[in-house]
Amino acid sequence: MSKRSYNIAVIPGDGTGPEVVHEGIKVMDTAAARFGFKLNYQHFDFGGDRYLRTGEILPDSALAEFRKFDSIFLGAIGHPQVKPGILEVGILLKSRFALDQYINLRPVKLYPGVETPLKDKGPEDIDFVVVRENTGGIYTGVGGAVQVGTPYEVATQVMVYSRPIVDRCIRYAYEYTRKRNRKKMLTLVHKCNVLTYAGDLWVRAHKEMGDAEFPDIKQDYNHVDACNMWFVKSPEYYDVIVTENLFGDIITDLGAIIQGGLGIAAGGNINPQGVSMFEPMGGSAPKYTGKNVINPLAAICAGGMMLETLGEEEAAKSIDSSVTGVLASGRIKSLAAGRMGMGTREVGDLVAKGV
Ligand code: IPM
Ligand code: MN
Repeated sequence: MSKRSYNIAVIPGDGTGPEVVHEGIKVMDTAAARFGFKLNYQHFDFGGDRYLRTGEILPDSALAEFRKFDSIFLGAIGHPQVKPGILEVGILLKSRFALDQYINLRPVKLYPGVETPLKDKGPEDIDFVVVRENTGGIYTGVGGAVQVGTPYEVATQVMVYSRPIVDRCIRYAYEYTRKRNRKKMLTLVHKCNVLTYAGDLWVRAHKEMGDAEFPDIKQDYNHVDACNMWFVKSPEYYDVIVTENLFGDIITDLGAIIQGGLGIAAGGNINPQGVSMFEPMGGSAPKYTGKNVINPLAAICAGGMMLETLGEEEAAKSIDSSVTGVLASGRIKSLAAGRMGMGTREVGDLVAKGV
């Protein structure tokens, strides 16, 4: 399957983005050398600085260009002088929609040696994956407002889903669950007791596809509010979760914190038939920029996910076990910026050495 030479578009972005991207590339290149494939990078300077300089966020010509790549590696976006939302919508959401990256894949994994805020829980308890639908629902932008600013203002934002959009997401999640081959349980998370139309669509799609095509996968359902509770009380219950866009956005931040925080959380915006984009979940952390103190592990893990999606599974596994080894060794004092007991580059070196 794998073609052994890949063209990667790199968007280092704002703040500490370039520093963590540097370490991600260092580790990926080490893996590429060891497993005998090649990664060719082309850097793009989209982000806050370019926007402030030129007024340009992400032109359509860039999207056309991205389509020619095998994957995209993103550092961070968010600039203190740019109003929040402009870059997120203009770069992240625009790419997700334009490239039809309809899956947001978020592993929630507590590595050994990493502290979780959950009392009495360890790496054997926190290891599951959230498959978040990434282009539909409330994020579609259907809705409107009238009489804005008057006492009678009305605003709506609609949770829009079509059966094909739900089906393709659920199919990816079933296939992922089968491939993961752990508990073989796919938990649908929704709020069907209240969202009787949108929830019911997901419930039937999950059941019908499961019955017809994935009899080996156990079907399970949680309401989203209860799911929040279980993340904290019994995270060991989960294997793979599939959910709609906004619920997924919310539960994956809870997931990030129980796996040790944004210093380690990685995610993929995936188009299984097209160009995907991988990113560390932590933001641009402007106050740490250029100080060699930010934690690059999330970017390194995002790089691992990218290689896995490109078909370089051995390389991805090797990166994951190196990260595991480095964290288990206790050499990194904390995942927090400035408290690692070593620098950004040194963490990258350590992981690269173990690949
Ligand atoms: C995420 C982020 C984005 C989202 C924002 C930055 C638009 O929170 O990737 O989870 O809401 O999807
Ligand atoms: Mn989010």
